[in-house]
Amino acid sequence: MPRPRSIRLGVILPAAGTILLLYLLYIRSRIVVPDTNIPVREHFNDDEDPTVFEPPMASIRHSVIRGDDAAWTNDENTTWYSVGRHPNRGECWTYEDRFSAYKDPSPVMSAAISDNNNVNKSKRAVLLRMGSNQEWGEQFTLHARALVLEAGYLGKYDIVILTHLEMDDGAKATWMQRVPEELRPLVQTFTSKQVREWLPRSAKFKSIFDQNHLVVQMFMAQNPKYEFVYSVEADARLIGRWDVFLDDIDLEYAYHRKLKAPDQEMPAIPDLVTFESLRRPRDAWPWLEKECVEHFQGIENIRASLGIVWGWSRRMTDEMTRLNEKGINCYFEYFAPSTAYQQNLTTFFYQHPLYCPRTTPSSRNTMKKEQLGKNDPRSVQHEKVAVGCTYYFVNPHSQPFWEQWYHTPAACRPPALIHPVKGNFWN
Ligand SMILES: *[C@@H]1O[C@H](CO)[C@@H](O)[C@H](O)[C@H]1NC(C)=O
Ligand SMILES: *[C@@H]1O[C@H](CO)[C@@H](O)[C@H](O)[C@H]1NC(C)=O
Ligand SMILES: *[C@@H]1O[C@H](CO)[C@@H](O)[C@H](O)[C@H]1NC(C)=O
Repeated sequence: MPRPRSIRLGVILPAAGTILLLYLLYIRSRIVVPDTNIPVREHFNDDEDPTVFEPPMASIRHSVIRGDDAAWTNDENTTWYSVGRHPNRGECWTYEDRFSAYKDPSPVMSAAISDNNNVNKSKRAVLLRMGSNQEWGEQFTLHARALVLEAGYLGKYDIVILTHLEMDDGAKATWMQRVPEELRPLVQTFTSKQVREWLPRSAKFKSIFDQNHLVVQMFMAQNPKYEFVYSVEADARLIGRWDVFLDDIDLEYAYHRKLKAPDQEMPAIPDLVTFESLRRPRDAWPWLEKECVEHFQGIENIRASLGIVWGWSRRMTDEMTRLNEKGINCYFEYFAPSTAYQQNLTTFFYQHPLYCPRTTPSSRNTMKKEQLGKNDPRSVQHEKVAVGCTYYFVNPHSQPFWEQWYHTPAACRPPALIHPVKGNFWN
């Protein structure tokens, strides 16, 4: 009698071994080893004064993305997937790569920070927005110095640390002691009362929280030399360099502008730059205000987007002030995009890479091309648009993405605009 059982085992065991071996070889072949670890410390630009600082560089370079959409992060515990648009650079930054250049500023570097806005040639500024709850801990200080030296010194933007402080002069002076000395000359403060007094009488004032746009409008009205500003909330972060990121936005907008349709008018600088795709809010969105919906002639003409980082042209802020004069003042996440939509201004959505611990984003873009503003770029690849995860209104993904990076020296991160990073330790 044959002994089928043992015969079967005798065939199966070696076969299983072969399959396992092939599987392991297959896995290995799918893991693309990073090309090199280049200790890059080349000068960014010979024209720049090399004594100020060596601009940071990512130490790990690789082919941009693995075939399975997993991003290079060298994490022990979490695989981070690129969702939506893939990163456009094969860089992976360790926390050390990103921030070590800013740990011990030399006197000449501190002076470059303090003097950033005295050059007085820039027509563009970045407003770093915060309130009195800002702790100014060590990690936030590194972030603020990076912003000034990269967007300011290298990128030639003015940087204003625009701070909402409801305090008397004594308390304000005490608060200012928190700010590292070299950054203090960049701080400008305001109170709710000042905003209310600046606002045309006809418009209703709710609060800075609800109407964050007023701070930007007031800043533009009081600083006529600027033609464009970015506003950046204090709990947003950037992995990769600010000057590179801001240049990429300009380059991409210029590309879309070349491809505009014959009936479109797109100015040299866009009117509203947004980092989350526009959406038409649902009917029951609690932030909608009756008089605003009426003004924009129905919810189908309302556009909204996350207002953490936005770019504003003077045309944009002036248009909103004109509406204020007519008595219209709406919640900030839809006031600017709806105004741009109604007035045929150009809203440019810049899709930056997003990362998730799964292969799906938090939500999908739902707008169709026909629902964009008349003069908005149409060549954005909408099928690749994703929403959420590392740039979202809540932090279940942004926080671990940032914290695991900090706590694991070998971990690295691809370029990313991150929001929010919460907590006193980080802020
Ligand atoms: C990974 O997970 C283990 C077990 O949960 C934990 O002990 C370890 O600290 C984690 N490592 C990192 C870098 O988060
Ligand atoms: C900057 O320019 C403004 C007007 O454009 C001028 O009033 C001001 O004095 C200038 N500041 C410096 C430091 O040059
Ligand atoms: C915006 O463009 C549309 C379509 O061309 C036009 O009907 C409308 O009058 C324009 N609105 C403004 C405020 O220019």
